[in-house]
Amino acid sequence: MEKLLSNGAGYRTVPERFIFPLEKRPGKEVNLSITLPVINLRGGEVNGVDHDEIVKEIMEAGKAFGFFQVVNHGVAEQVINDMIVVSEDFFKMPMEDKAPYYSEDSSKTNRLLASTMYGKDGTFYWRDCLKLACYPVEEGIHEWPEKPSNLKDVLAKFIVEVRGVAMKLLKLICDGLGLKEDYFEGDLSGGQVLINANYYAPCPDPSLTLGLPPHCDRNLITLLVQGVVSGLQINHKGSWIGIEPIPNAFVVNFGHQLEIISNGVLKSVEHRAVTNSSVSRTSVATFIMPAMDSLIAPAQPLIGENNPPLYKSFLFKDFLSVYYDVAGKREGVLEAYKFQS
Ligand code: OGA
Ligand code: NI
Repeated sequence: MEKLLSNGAGYRTVPERFIFPLEKRPGKEVNLSITLPVINLRGGEVNGVDHDEIVKEIMEAGKAFGFFQVVNHGVAEQVINDMIVVSEDFFKMPMEDKAPYYSEDSSKTNRLLASTMYGKDGTFYWRDCLKLACYPVEEGIHEWPEKPSNLKDVLAKFIVEVRGVAMKLLKLICDGLGLKEDYFEGDLSGGQVLINANYYAPCPDPSLTLGLPPHCDRNLITLLVQGVVSGLQINHKGSWIGIEPIPNAFVVNFGHQLEIISNGVLKSVEHRAVTNSSVSRTSVATFIMPAMDSLIAPAQPLIGENNPPLYKSFLFKDFLSVYYDVAGKREGVLEAYKFQS
């Protein structure tokens, strides 16, 4: 509990356990010339020409970057702002108010955690995180923190709307892939909807540490609200590009499951969070997960004589332990599930 970065006045130097080995430090080389596509969802209800145009934009962005931002998605500014503010308020609470939620037991879904190590990697990273299972709301809500007193209301509204956007995006992606519009309905998107409310404290020396090390997401699709402070970077053709926050936008990326189900058409791309020395940063990621027992495999309609399946099939729950063992590293996961050619 005392490990939480959000607890105190902050550090003047970076404690040893957060210092990454030289070759894993963030480095200076960030490509500033490339910006991520921003897709206008036209308020969320799209038909006709607009629909076809959006599908095209999503597929192009997905193939080129594995990431894009969406604006004009239909979720009210207030709902998004409230979620960021209540997350900030949560981390600002005194230690004794946060203590009931703190746990180092990674098998627990709902918990507050401190700068945990990734897999077997030895270094701690510069982040506190509140993880909650959120959907259906009536199943999750009893386990959500009682404080701040508006957290339950704010999160309940937020998660229903954000999940709604995610499900719409999945339908558009089906169109783009040539799958039935409801392909991802049911088990494939029917597992937990998790949020990570991430808190990155100001760091005395951002060159020594990372808020989150390079990883791909384990789920189907992720929608991230970044607030107003930058810090997210994605790996693009071997270099890191920074994703500038756009007010009220969601940053969308494909998880491993979408790469595998699309038989490699859509890529799950490595990303990381860097820290800064001046201000704290709060982000909220929403993860749409398959049901634990669902069978994941390249979609049958995408497989043919000229398109052999690139990935083996598996149960989602078995995937999670492999993911953990390789610390979310893209190549590690793909080695385990790719057919060797
Ligand atoms: C995550 C993640 C990025 C960020 O929580 O999986 O990639 O900017 N977060 O906080
Ligand atoms: Ni991530």
